[in-house]
Formats: sequence, structure tokens, C-alpha cells
Amino acid sequence: DCPDFVELKEVGPRDGLQNETKWVPTDDKIAWINMLSNSGVREIEYSSFVNPKMIPSLSDAREVGKGILRNPDVFYSALVPNLKGLEYALETGIDGASVFMSASETHNKKNINKSLGETFPVLERVITEAKQAGKRVTGYVSTVFDCPYEGRIPTAQVIQVCDRLMGAGIDEISLGDTIGTAVPSQVEQLLDGILARYPKEKIIMHFHDTRGMAIANIMTSLQYGIHRFDTSIGGLGGCPYAPGAAGNVATNDVLYLLHGMGINTGINEEKIREASIFIQNKLGVKLPSKSLACHEDS
Ligand code: HMG
Ligand code: MG
Repeated sequence: DCPDFVELKEVGPRDGLQNETKWVPTDDKIAWINMLSNSGVREIEYSSFVNPKMIPSLSDAREVGKGILRNPDVFYSALVPNLKGLEYALETGIDGASVFMSASETHNKKNINKSLGETFPVLERVITEAKQAGKRVTGYVSTVFDCPYEGRIPTAQVIQVCDRLMGAGIDEISLGDTIGTAVPSQVEQLLDGILARYPKEKIIMHFHDTRGMAIANIMTSLQYGIHRFDTSIGGLGGCPYAPGAAGNVATNDVLYLLHGMGINTGINEEKIREASIFIQNKLGVKLPSKSLACHEDS
């Protein structure tokens, strides 16, 4: 049975822009996020408080966070890898902190420069301090299906990482198909394992659409009762430390699916379209969303 309300977290300003080599000026980012804030979306991941040398396109996280108009109906979160990032994020203003690590040793090493064993103690401190500051903490787990370096990742390995993060106090888990390789049977296998341990309310699915499988994978997740997804406006995105990763599933396409099926999101499709065109013009590249392209052609 599919849920009748689905909550989308807009990750375009973070996952979308992190992979862009073109610099989007801070004022444009702010204007764009303000558009998203007025689209009916309930949560926006607005930037990353990471090493700016690793993600230069988001090196203005503090300026962006300070500049955006906060809609009281929107929950604002940001990526936080360590205590320094948490300090900056708290100073700038967040409702929620997103910590992240990989289920795969090699991707974790490439992405955050540490082994899995070295990562836990760092994240445990971040989680504890963020909770003490009264923030909701999301734990992203990457490469939950396949790793670009190690291949198929066993569900048991994903669960081990989830258990450790949950044990450290995260409120919810976002499961990432980082390189967009999964097919629905893999989603079923993972969710069979995950939902045997955690309530579906705590699970968010994060699909990249590299091979066009994301909508099928979302449909499968919906049938498991999952009602929270990360999506990126226009389909922007990817992880620069995961070769072959394309953008997240497009918010526009997911809205087309959900609204067409009579599932409510609270999000205005026209406002998402306007915000897509705004960032498309700033980047000067055509965004991959199919429903956006259809609308532009008509
Ligand atoms: P490190 O190199 O091990 O850390 O990085 P370090 O402590 O040695 O610091 C190195 C330099 O970074 C120092 O500066 C620090 O001050 C600075 P320097 O002395 O060289 O001038 N630094 C910072 N500056 C600002 N804010 C900070 C910060 N931390 C250190 N918070 C670290 C470790 C984790 C920080 C680094 O590896 C990093 O930033 N990685 C982030 C990579 C990233 O953002 N990847 C993409 C996001 S994850 C993703 O996309 C997947 C996801 O979407 C889910 C999915 O799709 O699966 C979430
Ligand atoms: Mg991602």
C-alpha cells in the first residue's frame, strides 16, 4: 500500500551543486534557495560545512546560510562531517545536521579521508554535540547497494553501519544509492533487512538516477510504505568522490509521479519548475529532469 502523503527533502543546493565545476555566485544561491523555500517543500539541505578544498562549489556555506530568508514552515539542514563543520553550522543556523559515511571502506576513504573505524568516533562526537544543541540528526549511509570501487555491498554491512549510527543517537537514516546502479529487486532486499530493524518513519531513500532506475526504485520503496525521499531540483547532482555518479532523481519527475498517482506532497510543481529554470540559466547547462524538458518543449 502506497502512503497518501510523501515528504521530499530538497537536496539540490547541496548534492546538486557540490558536483558543479561552475561557480554559482552566493547571491544567486541565496535567491534560488529563497525560491525553493516558497515552493511548499518542507526541508531543504542548503549547503555543506566540509573542507572547502574538497567541495569548492559550496565554500560559501556560511554566507549562504546567513543570507537565506528562513521560512518558519521549512526545516533547514546542512552536511556536517566533523566538529569544526558543526561549529560553523550552528553559528550559521541549522535545524538539522546531516552526518555522512559510506557502507564501503574504499568510498569512505576517498570521500572523507578516513577508514570506517576512524570515522565512527568523529561522527559519534558530532552526533552527541548536535543532539545537545537540540538539533535533529540525519545519518546518510552511502553506497548501500554498490560501490564504484568495491562492487556489490552486502546488506549486512549496511546494517552494521546503520546500527552503529543509530546507537550513537541519529534520528533517522538516509540510504544512498550513490552511483545510481540499483534495480528494484536490490531495493526490496535491502528494505527487507532494514525494515526488520527500524520503523519506516526513520528511513529515507536517496536515489541517484545515473541509469534511469530511480523512479522504479522509488515506486518499490513506496510499496514498502517508505514515505520520505531526497530529491534534487532538475536532477542536479552527484558525488565528486564517486566516479560515475550522476545527479539525484529530479524533484520535478518525482512530483510528476506522485501527484499523478494522487499522492500529496504539499509542493507546488510550477514553483519547482521556475526554480529549475532559474538555476539552469545560472549554470548554463540543460538539467536532466525529463518532465522539466517536456514542459520547456511544449
Ligand atoms: P581531512 O583532510 O581528513 O581533514 O578531511 P583535516 O582535519 O586534516 O583537514 C584538512 C583541511 O580541511 C584543514 O585545512 C581543515 O582546517 C579543513 P588546511 O589546514 O589544509 O587549510 N577542514 C575544514 N574546513 C571547513 N569546514 C570543515 C573542515 N574540516 C576540515 N568542516 C573531511 C576530512 C571529512 C573534513 C574532508 O574529507 C571533507 O570535507 N570531505 C567531504 C567530502 C564531501 O563533501 N563529499 C560529498 C558529500 S557526501 C555525498 O555526496 C553522498 C550523499 O549524497 C549520499 C549518497 O549519495 O550516497 C550524502
Ligand atoms: Mg547523494
